[in-house]
Amino acid sequence: MIHLRDINKTYQGAQPLHVLKGINLDIAEGEFVSIMGASGSGKSTLLNILGILDNYDTGEYLLAGNLIKNLSETRAAEYRNRMIGFIFQSFNLIGFKTAVENVELPLYYQGVSRRTRHKLAMEWLDRLGLTQWAEHYPNEMSGGQKQRVAIARALKKLAL
Ligand SMILES: Nc1ncnc2c1ncn2[C@@H]1O[C@H](COP(=O)(O)OP(=O)(O)O)[C@@H](O)[C@H]1O
Ligand SMILES: [Mg+2]
Repeated sequence: MIHLRDINKTYQGAQPLHVLKGINLDIAEGEFVSIMGASGSGKSTLLNILGILDNYDTGEYLLAGNLIKNLSETRAAEYRNRMIGFIFQSFNLIGFKTAVENVELPLYYQGVSRRTRHKLAMEWLDRLGLTQWAEHYPNEMSGGQKQRVAIARALKKLAL
């Protein structure tokens, strides 16, 4: 699913900083992986590359067989939407949308019909025990409930 080969990344600046030095990583479908390391060791740098939020200098990143390199912003956004789910410590739910609308939003951008995206979103909210909260707004929910909405939003693409 995820293959990194000899990935190198240097932050340019007055003092260039070579953060990722020949990273190799293979993650299979269904595998759960944690990335641990000292503060400043390059975890966020690596995750930004995996999430197609930043570029690397040399090496190769294959995501589900697609070479992720020098993508246009449009193509990068399409791959992020279809293949990557982000869950943030601070939720990043949209405050003026209900729980179910938040989960539906990525499907809206994929062009999924209103009926289908509502059905998929409700299925994911149900799996996360949030059926009763579907019509509530984020500011009416607890931290754990908000985080489950964010998880449903990140996972719903797997249902497609
Ligand atoms: N945009 C940037 N420009 C320059 N240096 C950066 C940038 N982002 C991170 N760094 C530096 O790269 C190193 C790795 O940072 P980071 O990946 O955020 O580490 P971690 O997430 O493991 O704490 C740190 O020394 C940090 O100061
Ligand atoms: Mg970090």
